[in-house]
Amino acid sequence: MTNWERGIQASAELKAYLAAILEERRRQPADDVISVLATAELDGEHLDDEEIFSFLRLLLPAGVETTFRSTGNLLYLLLTHPEQLDAVRRDRSLLPQAIEEGLRFEPPLLLTAGSRRATPS
Ligand code: HEM
Repeated sequence: MTNWERGIQASAELKAYLAAILEERRRQPADDVISVLATAELDGEHLDDEEIFSFLRLLLPAGVETTFRSTGNLLYLLLTHPEQLDAVRRDRSLLPQAIEEGLRFEPPLLLTAGSRRATPS
């Protein structure tokens, strides 16, 4: 069941965690994505802190949940299909195909709750 209070608290804690890093990167940029966002400029405009937190809140689950789920799914599929595991073990060049097939066979996400709309013609 959805626990809103816990969600809001987690979001605030994540923001506090990211805020400390953002402040540090604004002072001393490094070779990382937060520094890129902190220093990005287009037509004289910069991203404000809320825009950066909002993007990072998207990037974190987008990068993590997809990869750990798809890796776990692929491992499970290979272990439950020993002939496929043997094939990949015998010929490592099959690995990219196995990863693609794992994504197709058991996707890590089935829907995105986005708000995209087709442009009316
Ligand atoms: C197996 C791995 C992954 C899968 C299956 C996956 C899947 C997806 C899907 C279905 C979307 C929505 C696309 C759309 O609505 O047009 C998306 C968007 C996105 N993904 Fe991934 N993704 C994966 C890995 C990653 C990783 C590793 C990162 C970042 C490190 C990432 C960052 C993003 C971001 C930022 C968006 C939003 C792009 C936008 O709306 O402009 N994804 N991904």
